[in-house]
Amino acid sequence: MVQLILSFLYALISTGASTLITDITGASQRTPLLGQTVTITALVSAKGKSGFYLLGEAVEDKRISHGLSVFTTSAAVLAQVSVGDQVSLIGKVAEFRPTANPDYLFLTEITSPTNITVLSSNNTIAPLILGKDRSPPTQQFSALDVGPDGWLSVPNNQSRVDVVNATLQPDKFGMDFWASLQGQLVAVPLPTAINFPNNFGEFWVHGDWPVTGKNLRGGLSLTFGPHGIPDANPEAILVGAPLDGTKNPKVAIGSTLTDIVGVVTYQFGFYYVLPLTAPTVITNQPFDVAPTTLVSSPHDRCPVTVGDYNVENMVPTGSHILDVANHISNILRTPDIMFIQEVQDNSGSKDDGTVSANVTLSNLVAAIEANTSVAYSFVEIAPVDGQDGGEISLWSGSAPPIDIYISGQPGGNIRQAYLYRPEKLNLVRAPGLVAGGALNATKVLGSRGNPVLSLNPGRVDPTNSAWTDSRKPLAAMWLTASGHTLFTVNLHLVSKSGSSTGQGDARPPVNLPVAQRTNQVETIFQTFVSSILDKDPHANIVVAGDCNEFLQTRSVWASLTPLLIDIDEVAEIAPEERYTYVFDNNCEQLDHMFVSRSIAGRCAKADVEHIHINNWAPTIATRVSDHDPTVARIRVC
Ligand SMILES: *[C@@H]1O[C@H](CO)[C@@H](O)[C@H](O)[C@H]1NC(C)=O
Ligand SMILES: *[C@@H]1O[C@H](CO)[C@@H](O)[C@H](O)[C@H]1NC(C)=O
Ligand SMILES: *[C@@H]1O[C@H](CO)[C@@H](O)[C@H](O)[C@H]1NC(C)=O
Ligand SMILES: *[C@@H]1O[C@H](CO)[C@@H](O)[C@H](O)[C@H]1NC(C)=O
Ligand SMILES: *[C@@H]1O[C@H](CO)[C@@H](O)[C@H](O)[C@H]1NC(C)=O
Ligand SMILES: *[C@@H]1O[C@H](CO)[C@@H](O)[C@H](O)[C@H]1NC(C)=O
Ligand SMILES: *[C@@H]1O[C@H](CO)[C@@H](O)[C@H](O)[C@H]1NC(C)=O
Repeated sequence: MVQLILSFLYALISTGASTLITDITGASQRTPLLGQTVTITALVSAKGKSGFYLLGEAVEDKRISHGLSVFTTSAAVLAQVSVGDQVSLIGKVAEFRPTANPDYLFLTEITSPTNITVLSSNNTIAPLILGKDRSPPTQQFSALDVGPDGWLSVPNNQSRVDVVNATLQPDKFGMDFWASLQGQLVAVPLPTAINFPNNFGEFWVHGDWPVTGKNLRGGLSLTFGPHGIPDANPEAILVGAPLDGTKNPKVAIGSTLTDIVGVVTYQFGFYYVLPLTAPTVITNQPFDVAPTTLVSSPHDRCPVTVGDYNVENMVPTGSHILDVANHISNILRTPDIMFIQEVQDNSGSKDDGTVSANVTLSNLVAAIEANTSVAYSFVEIAPVDGQDGGEISLWSGSAPPIDIYISGQPGGNIRQAYLYRPEKLNLVRAPGLVAGGALNATKVLGSRGNPVLSLNPGRVDPTNSAWTDSRKPLAAMWLTASGHTLFTVNLHLVSKSGSSTGQGDARPPVNLPVAQRTNQVETIFQTFVSSILDKDPHANIVVAGDCNEFLQTRSVWASLTPLLIDIDEVAEIAPEERYTYVFDNNCEQLDHMFVSRSIAGRCAKADVEHIHINNWAPTIATRVSDHDPTVARIRVC
């Protein structure tokens, strides 16, 4: 009898008063039924602490999802439904976006569910199998990412997904693909982790489907796509907290996991799969990292080995500086010259007016010497207290994963420094040639064929507004053991702090402060480097450091391109292996080394190595820095 009444009710609802989920989701970004009270009949596909998920009848049109989330934190309401139930309910069509995060997308959902009737139970629900039933596109996030550099185009923040409210194109654009599955139950077969988990145990994966930019470790690198547009790797998806309250495992880049079945949703600025239950790790990549093969020969004076390492807020004492010393000693194998960024002053992060880092650097040099018997000299220019900005780590370590940043350490007065082996190269010293101070600009003087710096070392244009609240570039002129001159600039460009999420509302995503970063590049290349090359087109020049920008953001580098060459290009490093940083879904290169044509002409294949000592670590906590170091071998004659 009960059964009869229920089927009657079901028939009534499904023929008349009931609204189809596909009518609520529609083919566009936003729901056509916002604010309406609807009656829905559907299967309960998943259930968590803050609601449950419905699956209705599918339609042919792939743009239209037949899944939907129902928001409720009421234990009484949640107790009324079980996974596998066919239910009818009444609720309101709503769009959720946290007021504090206007750069996130709206999530369509049902709120205030009432009149829940269970029509049948224990129905089986088959997930859509990603990679088999449907696969994500692999190149672009959104049709709104217009401009020559795709999602990295400048100007950015030109339009908003939720305002344009376009019809989805799930075959072409990754955000549209995931939007077209929002609320649905999907399976991710053979997931591979492509980043470490954040503090909430969330991590990025790709499954058993076509991917681009795959590197040897198993991550997805930021590369150029087939049409010369930067590839955003939209085929990756974030794995959120499991709905059953189990905990995600610890993963590293390249870890493989058991299949994930979960629901697609949007939160914290990204599309996610929320697993029904936590997957487990099947394999990890080996965690040992081979030392560089690039060492300079004691017999040949021409080659100079060059290391570059952002040592992430290195303080004068403690285990961090010893770990850095160990890396330089045993992994980078004591390059002839080290470009170092993020050296804190002698009082570390304490904000007490100290600016010199000579104790910090002496301690580093002593630890390396104790370990290798290599005796480095060092050189720095202390900044004006508090004027160069404390570094802000890009890794938030907490959800929302991107646009909340760990506060910096302004008291540390981080700066760049060089370590150098005096038996291999020395600062050029000449009568009257002195080092510059924090605010003195070094100029290119000298006669044709013989450029010299007015201050050695010196800062490049430190009072230019491009360097406000940012680390000033450290230039130096060296005389090598072979008797040749080498010019260097050690860079730490302004960080991306405050940028919007890759899958956020603003398109192309907001890249902060890209105008300042572009100006910084211009002050170095258009004025300083070009002045050296004007006097000597054959000058040996290396500009290297943490640039906080990808080469794929081509607009930033326009002033450099005719003058210097990316050493990875000359050394023919595979594009997928060009990374020094891991952020969100991408292995990416923030640390670059640019060389003049005369050096490029003498470079051989594989004369540069990015040593993934940090990003191949088992966990975030065991990394010594968020950046990987690089070693190159150049010839100055
Ligand atoms: C989005 O587009 C759909 C389909 O055209 C329309 O029904 C809905 O009202 C639009 N919503 C907004 C906020 O523009
Ligand atoms: C929903 O439930 C309320 C309270 O139980 C009841 O008054 C109302 O008639 C129900 N609505 C429908 C459409 O069944
Ligand atoms: C559904 O399955 C569970 C577990 O197998 C069983 O305990 C329950 O009685 C079933 N419910 C119905 C309505 O068949
Ligand atoms: C992006 O543009 C919107 C206007 O559409 C503006 O309100 C917002 O402040 C901009 N965001 C940034 C970070 O510039
Ligand atoms: C650091 O510099 C100060 C001031 O020039 C000097 O007195 C001190 O000896 C230096 N310390 C080291 C370890 O070089
Ligand atoms: C070099 O450093 C590493 C790591 O700190 C340490 O294990 C090793 O014993 C050191 N070697 C020497 C000779 O000090
Ligand atoms: C650096 O600039 C300061 C302040 O302008 C000036 O007093 C000092 O002489 C300059 N030093 C050099 C070496 O030019």
